[in-house]
Amino acid sequence: MQEFYAGRTVMVTGAAGFLGSHLVERLTAAGSRVLAVDAAPVPDAWAGGRTGDGSIRYERLDVTEGAALGELVREEPVEVLFHLAAIASPRACARDFARAFAVNVEGTHRVLDASAEVPHFVFLSSAAVYGAPVSLPMAEDHPLRGREPYAVTKIMGELLVENAVANYGRRASIVRNFNAFGPRQPTEYVIPSVIRQALTTGRIELWSGAPVRDLMFVDNTEDAILTVGARSRGGTYNVGSGRGVRMAELAQLIAAKVGHDIPVQDLGKEVTGSPALVADVRRLQDLGWSETVPFDVGLARTVDWYRG
Ligand SMILES: NC(=O)c1ccc[n+]([C@@H]2O[C@H](COP(=O)([O-])OP(=O)(O)OC[C@H]3O[C@@H](n4cnc5c(N)ncnc54)[C@H](O)[C@@H]3O)[C@@H](O)[C@H]2O)c1
Repeated sequence: MQEFYAGRTVMVTGAAGFLGSHLVERLTAAGSRVLAVDAAPVPDAWAGGRTGDGSIRYERLDVTEGAALGELVREEPVEVLFHLAAIASPRACARDFARAFAVNVEGTHRVLDASAEVPHFVFLSSAAVYGAPVSLPMAEDHPLRGREPYAVTKIMGELLVENAVANYGRRASIVRNFNAFGPRQPTEYVIPSVIRQALTTGRIELWSGAPVRDLMFVDNTEDAILTVGARSRGGTYNVGSGRGVRMAELAQLIAAKVGHDIPVQDLGKEVTGSPALVADVRRLQDLGWSETVPFDVGLARTVDWYRG
C-alpha cells in the first residue's frame, strides 16, 4: 500500500491537525509530494511551509474560501485528496453551530467543488454519525442516529460526498473514524486528558466511566486511511479496532501505566454522546488492512509522549 503513494501528489486538508499531521508525515515517508492545507499557521516541524526536498507545500487557507482552493488544485497534479479539515471537537460544534456548519458542511462542499478533476476524494467522517447503537459492533449499514451538532455536520458532509458520486460521477470514499489516540492529540480529548490528570495531579477524575469507545492507536488509523486512499474504488469504511473499552477500564489502564497508586474517581455524570461506539471493520479488512500496533503498546507510547 505504501508503494502506491511513491511519486504521487496528494492533498491533505486539516494538515496541521492531529490526524492530518501524522498523515502528511506518513505520505512524505512513502515518497509522496504533499499539498498540505490548513487554516492554522505552518507547524514548527515544517518550518517555512516547504521542506528542503520540496516534499511538502504548505498553504495556509480556509476551506470555506472556494476560489483560492480551486486555484491551488489547478496548480498541482493532485491524485488523491484527503479532506480532514473540520471543527472536530463535538464541544466546539455545540458551542458555535454556525461555524461548525460553515466549516464541516459548506467547507466540504467547497473542497468537493474545487477538486472536480481529482481522481479520488476521501472524506473523514466520524463514528459519531451512528449515535446510540441498535446493535454492536456497528457495520457501515447501521442507521445514522447521531443528532449532536458535530454528528449532524458529518452526516451532511457524507451526503454531499454521495451527491458528488451519484450525480457528478466522482470517485469518493468516506472514512467513518472511531476514536484515534496518540502523540499530539489536543488535551480536551479523553485519553490525553486522563493521562495529563494522572501525570500532573496524581489522580484521575472521570466525567463518566460508563461510555464504551473503540480506541485505536494513531499509526493504525493512518494505515487504514492510507489503505482506503490507495485501494478503495468508492464507498464507506469504518476505521477502528473492533474492540470496545469502557471509560472506567481505560482510566485504570492509564493509571497502571503512569503509576500504581493513582486513584480513579468516577463522577457518574450524564454523557451527551453515544453510550457505545464499536466498529465492525470487516469491510476495511477486506481491503487488506490490519491493526499492527497493539492497543497496549500504543497506550504506553502515548503516555511516554505526554510524559516527555
Ligand atoms: N481524532 C479522531 O479520533 C477523529 C475521530 C473521528 C473523526 N475524525 C475526523 O478526522 C478529521 C481530523 O481530526 P483531528 O482529530 O485531526 O482534528 P484536529 O482538530 O486536530 O484537526 C483539524 C484541523 O482542521 C483545521 N481547520 C479547521 N477549520 C478549518 C478551515 N476552515 N479551513 C482549513 N482548515 C481548518 C484545524 O486548524 C486543524 O488543524 C476531522 O474531520 C475529524 O472530524 C477524527
